[in-house]
Amino acid sequence: MRTLIESDFCLEKIWEVVQLEFQKATTVKRHSFRYVVLSSANNESVNSRWVVLRRYTEGGSFLIYTDARSEKVNNFKANSLVSLLFFNDRKGLQVRVNGKVITHHKNELTKKYWPGVKGFNDQSYTSELAPGTPIKSKDEAYKWSSIMDDENFMVLEIVPNTIEVLQLNGSEHIRAQFSADGQSFEGTFLVP
Ligand SMILES: Cc1cc2nc3c(=O)[nH]c(=O)nc-3n(C[C@H](O)[C@H](O)[C@H](O)COP(=O)(O)O)c2cc1C
Repeated sequence: MRTLIESDFCLEKIWEVVQLEFQKATTVKRHSFRYVVLSSANNESVNSRWVVLRRYTEGGSFLIYTDARSEKVNNFKANSLVSLLFFNDRKGLQVRVNGKVITHHKNELTKKYWPGVKGFNDQSYTSELAPGTPIKSKDEAYKWSSIMDDENFMVLEIVPNTIEVLQLNGSEHIRAQFSADGQSFEGTFLVP
């Protein structure tokens, strides 16, 4: 297996590689970082789910779309700390991003991205019943609002605090952590 991070890479080079993977995730077809596990917690449980990474912003935030009525949003109200987990199985690269989520609902950001959703996959955000509602028959799920508007469309912005990289590499795995330090990130190698 050819790795993305090689044994002689310095921290700066590792940071560059990972940043490039985040950028490619939303532009390159079938990129392994397009789907990511988003974990959140309330006071009773930890919850993970797969989501689509929609944008990696110039400021270094991760954008994800969701339905504002979904259970995860209640988690964010109780606790804004979240984790994103990426994995490239062909290259043996795991990246864990820990940070805080900012929810955007009916604001400039949702207005900016809604036109790209409307007419394409607006049904994901306009079901009559809220996601997670118990139903007697599954047909009850397939009813949509007659107004396909952005009432429930939410953009999640994840602002990273730490980014931890693990490159599997035979008997010499490479692990590095980057922690937010003001506007930039400070890196250190860790024992894998
Ligand atoms: C491959 C895949 C991609 C998904 N993408 C999203 C997504 O971008 N946004 C989203 O809200 N849910 C997405 N889901 C559904 C979530 O995994 C989850 O079932 C749903 O959001 C409800 O989660 P919650 O009850 O924790 O809020 C996706 C599921 C899969 C399997």
